[in-house]
Amino acid sequence: MSNAVNPIIWDRNRLRLLDQRLLPAEVVYLDCLTAKDVAEAIHGMAVRGAPAIGIAAAYGLVLSVQKEHDSFARASEVLAASRPTAVNLRWALERMRGIWLRTPTVEALEKEAIAIHDEDLAQNLKMGELGADLLPSNASVITHCNTGALATGGHGTALGVIRSGYARNRITRVYNTETRPWLQGARLTAWELQQEGIPAQLLADGAAAHLMSREKIDWVIVGADRIAANGDTANKIGTYMLAVAAKRHGVKFMVVAPSGTFDLRCRTGAEIPIEERTAKELTEFRGQMIAPVGYDAFNPVFDVTPAELIDAIVCERGVILNPDADKLNALLG
Ligand code: MRU
Repeated sequence: MSNAVNPIIWDRNRLRLLDQRLLPAEVVYLDCLTAKDVAEAIHGMAVRGAPAIGIAAAYGLVLSVQKEHDSFARASEVLAASRPTAVNLRWALERMRGIWLRTPTVEALEKEAIAIHDEDLAQNLKMGELGADLLPSNASVITHCNTGALATGGHGTALGVIRSGYARNRITRVYNTETRPWLQGARLTAWELQQEGIPAQLLADGAAAHLMSREKIDWVIVGADRIAANGDTANKIGTYMLAVAAKRHGVKFMVVAPSGTFDLRCRTGAEIPIEERTAKELTEFRGQMIAPVGYDAFNPVFDVTPAELIDAIVCERGVILNPDADKLNALLG
């Protein structure tokens, strides 16, 4: 794995999660012993990123059944309620349920959770190559949020394409947005890029359109939390704005996500539930008020980019150019 620190460590009867809230200042692991611990870690953002929360939830079920054989359904509900938008969470729980119905043993569940974890890395490596194939030489790219090893089973989705593209000498400039309010870009993506030795520059979220107007940017490359049947894509808040700016400036827009991120039950992006978090995440910063006391805030943490603004969706099963419902169905239906 290309990251020096492993963010999700399975240790027989405990799940060790690198507490991403403390990065890059501190590298501290949070030990989860129950499904509730895992659900709290997911809701509290100690572990985040669509594939990573699916992997963590799968291990959460193992922890639960290790302690109490009949707790599968209850634990599954608690974990499913921890965050609503990333469908990878529900996808992983459903996959674990399939195993539980056939073979209701801790061993079978543990094996499946490890498989979900390992497969994610393999899928990311595959997507890294497929996405890098789309890049011109000397490409300049912008990425948003954190989609790297921290958000996945390793290598990353959008950041995986950047890693693979850089390794193949196709990328010369990387800009990553800071990603208000949790700063996944400034704290996590910058940390991963620096560890990897990939030269990159941090960008205020609001600076992307200006950058596109002044410099040649080839691709915006982002991950996804849920992709509807028609290709509409939910991802970190600010992604839609980037896609609009990219279209205005002739910059291509790539979404990179494994098959577990597709939800063909949602016909369009309008059916994707969008998580809204507490106003405090915007009005306060590390306990310090940055807005007037008592001020309210609207804090949706994902948005939906319509398929018509997306040039390519890269999945481990293949690449969909100019996505629409027929193309998605042909690859994933
Ligand atoms: O709120 P977060 O940090 O969980 O949001 C993460 C994102 O939006 C990522 O872009 C997405 O999950 C893809 S991660 C490979």
